[in-house]
Amino acid sequence: MALLLWLLLAVPAHVTDAQLRAKRSRLILTEASHLHPATSGPQPGAGPEPGDRATAFQVPTLDGKFSYQPDDGAVNESLVIHAFTNKSGFLECLWSSESSLKSLVEGLPNRTQVLFLSLDDSAVSDVLWMREQLHRAAANSRKEVLTRLHFSPVPVFALGNWIPKVLYYWGCLGHNCGLSQAVFTSDGWTMPIIVKRLDARYDWLMGHWSPKTYQLADAGDGCEPSPPLGGAVAWVSEGNCSFFNKVKNMAKSNASGVLVYSLPGNPIQDMNCEGQECFFPLAIPAAMVHQESSVAQALRSGKLVNVSFQTTPSPNFFISIDQQGALAETGWFLYPSFSFINWQAQWFEFAAGLQNKIQSPAKIIPVFDKITMQGDKGAVATVELPADVWNFDTLELDASLSCPGRRDSSCAEWDHTVQLFVCCDQLSPYCNTELGRWITAFRRGTGHWLTDVSPLIPVLDSSKCTFTMKTVPWAMPWVASLNLRFSVSNRTGEDVAELHPFKVTPLFSGGTFDKNYNKRYQPTKILIPSSTKKVELYAVITGHGSDENGCGEFCVTSHHFLINGVHNNTHTFDTAGTALGCTMRVKDGAVPNEHGTWLYGRGGWCDGLQVDPWRVDVTKQLNMSDFESNTIVYFGWFNGQDPNPAQKPGYIIMSSFLIFYK
Ligand SMILES: *[C@@H]1O[C@H](CO)[C@@H](O)[C@H](O)[C@H]1NC(C)=O
Ligand SMILES: *[C@@H]1O[C@H](CO)[C@@H](O)[C@H](O)[C@H]1NC(C)=O
Ligand SMILES: *[C@@H]1O[C@H](CO)[C@@H](O)[C@H](O)[C@H]1NC(C)=O
Ligand SMILES: *[C@@H]1O[C@H](CO)[C@@H](O)[C@H](O)[C@H]1NC(C)=O
Ligand SMILES: *[C@@H]1O[C@H](CO)[C@@H](O)[C@H](O)[C@H]1NC(C)=O
Ligand SMILES: *[C@@H]1O[C@H](CO)[C@@H](O)[C@H](O)[C@H]1NC(C)=O
Ligand SMILES: *[C@@H]1O[C@H](CO)[C@@H](O)[C@H](O)[C@H]1NC(C)=O
Ligand SMILES: *[C@@H]1O[C@H](CO)[C@@H](O)[C@H](O)[C@H]1NC(C)=O
Ligand SMILES: *[C@@H]1O[C@H](CO)[C@@H](O)[C@H](O)[C@H]1NC(C)=O
Repeated sequence: MALLLWLLLAVPAHVTDAQLRAKRSRLILTEASHLHPATSGPQPGAGPEPGDRATAFQVPTLDGKFSYQPDDGAVNESLVIHAFTNKSGFLECLWSSESSLKSLVEGLPNRTQVLFLSLDDSAVSDVLWMREQLHRAAANSRKEVLTRLHFSPVPVFALGNWIPKVLYYWGCLGHNCGLSQAVFTSDGWTMPIIVKRLDARYDWLMGHWSPKTYQLADAGDGCEPSPPLGGAVAWVSEGNCSFFNKVKNMAKSNASGVLVYSLPGNPIQDMNCEGQECFFPLAIPAAMVHQESSVAQALRSGKLVNVSFQTTPSPNFFISIDQQGALAETGWFLYPSFSFINWQAQWFEFAAGLQNKIQSPAKIIPVFDKITMQGDKGAVATVELPADVWNFDTLELDASLSCPGRRDSSCAEWDHTVQLFVCCDQLSPYCNTELGRWITAFRRGTGHWLTDVSPLIPVLDSSKCTFTMKTVPWAMPWVASLNLRFSVSNRTGEDVAELHPFKVTPLFSGGTFDKNYNKRYQPTKILIPSSTKKVELYAVITGHGSDENGCGEFCVTSHHFLINGVHNNTHTFDTAGTALGCTMRVKDGAVPNEHGTWLYGRGGWCDGLQVDPWRVDVTKQLNMSDFESNTIVYFGWFNGQDPNPAQKPGYIIMSSFLIFYK
């Protein structure tokens, strides 16, 4: 119903107009229901938003036609729709880079289709070229994937269905979106020369082009420092040395930035550092462009050439439909690689699995239903627990964080820790126990996680409990939802008698990760209650901050719980600091394509993911016949040693417990 309305209204909008309307409707939609837009209906003039259902459509393709028919119940695949334009240096590189093409043909998740379109008059030759690129990349690998890639020769402006509306209406405002350009002027020319550019990898060169006009200076291949450039932008050719060497040399020569031009016939490349180069900070921006003969000629003949930098808004290049048939944004592509499509599709696969899981039978206690979490207070709710809570052996936290508006652009910045505390009895030692921990997804509002916290059931020691969910008080608001799911695990007949946790003993907490970190931990006597059948170590540990070694976020720390001086229970964050560590966790619900460097591995956590409790059965390490003779001590190391930072120590956030079962 709702969808029909906006189909009728769909007029491919001019981008600026679409952006204005996006802003206006965001204000209206802040008030509207999040998940059931059909009940409130679209606002006049507004378009479809993320979460709205996508209707059926058909487009001609090079192989016949592509048909999306959600009404036939076929929606258990996701669909990514990509609109190409060769006016974008980013897209040119995405489609030219072998590693990017390979990542799609080798890594596209099974239940994902991709529809390729072109925004331009050249749609026919564009998609023929795109198909050829992918077929070549797939030549020696998985051919099956080609059956799920569809190429439409009809340009976006002639599609006649709802796709243009969404591409235009959602616009392209983020990183690698829109058309990044370099503008050259020179006295002899009547018109400026405007060319596409691709800025160097965001996480390599943090320097930004300023809005001013720079002078341009020829500096050969940039492989040697040149005479002082007095703040000009260096014009250098690709080749003969690494991008890093060019930028380093030009910085030394007092350039304000570097434009590397590709040699004739070569595509624009993703300029990045390699290996050790990446540890050497460079403070100027750089971008790649095509060789422009009039620019080269003017420079050669000693004419003054100026350059400035601009980004022209464009329709969105990527939209998608999840496995439930809802429209979805695809987030930021940090660099030109189809891996970002794979990660988005992996996440759809995860989200579909999660939807299944939360359909399974459970006693559900709603705690937060789209409550705004902000400031010192956070989100707070007091709820009644089921009377028979002790009959359940499983407790899961079904948590999600969305944004004030329906677009990711309304989402809070940065990756902050979110903690859930519970207090059921002010006088109980369990009051204010940390029940769950998550890290926010930087500017993406789709995070939804299920975390098993069954061992902590005993902290719910009264029929009424108050739950508080908080992030840092200065963070922008998140909209939090939380259900407690109580259930009974499915054990087969032969299983050992069911054990229930009945006592939780807090152990150690974290702190500043400096040379004194381990001095504050003393061996603690473990008091084992009688009738204990099993003892479990349960810890939630994350490393934060940044000393000169990147500790504790990006360094490898290990956490040791030594029982009776001999049993060494070790938890090591060995993917911390790796380039793609957190992309491995998208399958487990880490929100992909966030802003910033969500891809890097971190100390026990990822952006946009729950922190998994670490659990070890330590029953056999204890002397169960002497309830008072057991001890436990904790220590934390950086690279196998006591931490010893020279500056700005990081910190560890830790909740750790022994759980006693009977
Ligand atoms: C949905 O996916 C399942 C596999 O998970 C498949 O067996 C089934 O046929 C699919 N349904 C439709 C309608 O495509
Ligand atoms: C894209 O543009 C570049 C230069 O602007 C050109 O060399 C290349 O052939 C174009 N590719 C396609 C597919 O049109
Ligand atoms: C796709 O499915 C095949 C089996 O049908 C499986 O072997 C393969 O690992 C799957 N690939 C991905 C990327 O999920
Ligand atoms: C180049 O920039 C300088 C300084 O901004 C300015 O004075 C000059 O007129 C510009 N020349 C051209 C051709 O744009
Ligand atoms: C690379 O170096 C060679 C030899 O020094 C030189 O002739 C050539 O012009 C350089 N290439 C470019 C693109 O500057
Ligand atoms: C470097 O360039 C700046 C202008 O950006 C100028 O003020 C400064 O004097 C230059 N330094 C050298 C050593 O050339
Ligand atoms: C419990 O497990 C059995 C065998 O693994 C399975 O057949 C049954 O459907 C499961 N029951 C539930 C409620 O999940
Ligand atoms: C505990 O384990 C770590 C890492 O395996 C090891 O380096 C350390 O020596 C062990 N400590 C003891 C007391 O066994
Ligand atoms: C457990 O403690 C009892 C009493 O202190 C002692 O006799 C026994 O040797 C201990 N067992 C082990 C395995 O250490």
